[in-house]
Amino acid sequence: MPEVEAAPARRRIFFALWPDDALREQIEENTRSAIQQAGGRRIPAGNLHVTLVFIGEASYEQLDAAKLAASETVARPFTLSLDMLESWTDADVLVYSGERPPAALGMLVDRLRISLLRHQFRLQRQTFKPHVTLVRNLPRRLAKRPLPVLEWPVREFVLVDSRPGPAGSLYSVMDRWPLA
Ligand code: 2AM
Repeated sequence: MPEVEAAPARRRIFFALWPDDALREQIEENTRSAIQQAGGRRIPAGNLHVTLVFIGEASYEQLDAAKLAASETVARPFTLSLDMLESWTDADVLVYSGERPPAALGMLVDRLRISLLRHQFRLQRQTFKPHVTLVRNLPRRLAKRPLPVLEWPVREFVLVDSRPGPAGSLYSVMDRWPLA
């Protein structure tokens, strides 16, 4: 019998904004010196994203329900500006954050959460501040400071599957929904 790697019965999933290659390069460029200065465990460029709603472990039925909830979420496109370097010491992370997120982003997150709640998901309470996590296990706090501004035209949101890999989590985009 051929060896087939069994798909996991449950997956770890979250909704996110997922940068294209050009944005990914720009995030790397804008944050390179800060990351070098920080130490800690750097997030690989291919994993950089903005989490919208974290779901966690989900069964196949829940995966379908999450996709349905996403397809029922109506929100407008917007531009997200990331402009600040921050150390969040409660989570030991270094982040590239947006100080003045557009109202349309808050509406997207609220509507997605409401839709997920309607589909029986139990979500963590969270105060949402958009950010790209750059470093985990941050050994020391860096002073908050402005970084070059990244203008991110957001036209869609995605559902991401997270699997443990030898060098940390491996993320893959499972599905996408346009904003219109
Ligand atoms: P982050 O966006 O601040 O990095 C996948 O784990 C993503 O979901 C991460 O990007 C992570 O945070 C976010 N997330 C939010 N709550 C989480 C939790 N309780 N456990 C793991 N990840 C969480």
